[in-house]
Amino acid sequence: MSERDGVEVVDSVTAAFGRTYGAAPTGVWSAPGRVNLIGEHTDYNGGLCLPIALPHRTYAAVSRRDDDVLRIASVQQDGIVEVALGDVSPGQPGGWGAYVAGVLWALRRDGLDVGGLDVLVDSTVPLGSGLSSSAALECAVAAAASDLFGLDLLGSRSGRARLAARCVEAENVIAGAPTGGMDQSASLLCDERAALLLDCRSGETRQVPFDLDAAGHVLLVTDTKAEHALVDGQYAARRDACEQAARDLGVETLREVDPAALGAALQRLGSDEVRRRVRHVVTEIERVGQAVAALEAGDLDEVGRLFDASHASLRDDYEVSCDELDVATETARSKGALGARMTGGGFGGSCIAIVAAEDVEPVSTAIAEAFASHGFAAPVSFAVTASGPAARNR
Ligand code: GLA
Repeated sequence: MSERDGVEVVDSVTAAFGRTYGAAPTGVWSAPGRVNLIGEHTDYNGGLCLPIALPHRTYAAVSRRDDDVLRIASVQQDGIVEVALGDVSPGQPGGWGAYVAGVLWALRRDGLDVGGLDVLVDSTVPLGSGLSSSAALECAVAAAASDLFGLDLLGSRSGRARLAARCVEAENVIAGAPTGGMDQSASLLCDERAALLLDCRSGETRQVPFDLDAAGHVLLVTDTKAEHALVDGQYAARRDACEQAARDLGVETLREVDPAALGAALQRLGSDEVRRRVRHVVTEIERVGQAVAALEAGDLDEVGRLFDASHASLRDDYEVSCDELDVATETARSKGALGARMTGGGFGGSCIAIVAAEDVEPVSTAIAEAFASHGFAAPVSFAVTASGPAARNR
């Protein structure tokens, strides 16, 4: 659960806005972080993924301005970032302001009539933990802009999908992180008590009921505190390798590779490394379909088995895990978790495990002890439920 509840944060971000800008905000909007249940590094390959929205959210107190100036401040950061919307470009503004300014830039490029804003941000999404704090920030600002400029995009799923696409452009072009789009779709389109089956080829979405409580289980998230950065070269290198492999195979994306003919496709690729990358993507897309079927059949043992297989594939074939993620997932399994896997881009960040409700404490403690004995930073574990999408709070 979040350490602070929503009402408390709405109040404090409203007060912080008043202290910073000398007037009350017009409103407060928020958007959730996410964990992906399964389907990792598939979004930019036209594949399937299955995220849920977290109870942890980023809140933005916002007012419209009469000019084209954007001012951004945060409870978590010092100072005010100020930029004229006409000056927003790749790297301008730098740092976290890019995720806010980029959204307005992308909405304008989409032909929407968007002007300046005063924005004050607060967040209960742990930063840098692989739980999509940046997407939550983008989507909270996009939700505010939609309401304040009368764009009316929050009221329909197609409008929300359009906002998500603009948030992805903000992240790809202005913030310079070549991510695939799952996080922004999750933040704008997930429903409570459901996972979002996202088909990144067609753009279609479907809600899959996800409520482990009824089965006496919980989804345990462990933030490993291992450093994780998507702007570094590793994520981009994986994406480039997949796009090159698709070209070599003569397909638009790796989604087109028939799992039944995977062996033959792999033989046409030049290196063992590329073959392993492609094998991960193709088998992972298959696992998403299997996980949806297992969830719909109430077969949590099978979901857990698929989590384990996904982690092994990400660790051995895609090579995006790290020691902390491997130790956390192995420890969870050894203490009775039905399955455990890294979630998000990898190279640090968080993992998830399906554990019996009564095992939350023993599993969390065992992970903390294993981290201490390896000399890793202390991890933070917490149970989560599937929560609601970006919305206006006040
Ligand atoms: C990050 C990216 C997503 C996705 C995942 C891996 O979270 O932002 O687009 O590629 O990594 O599944």
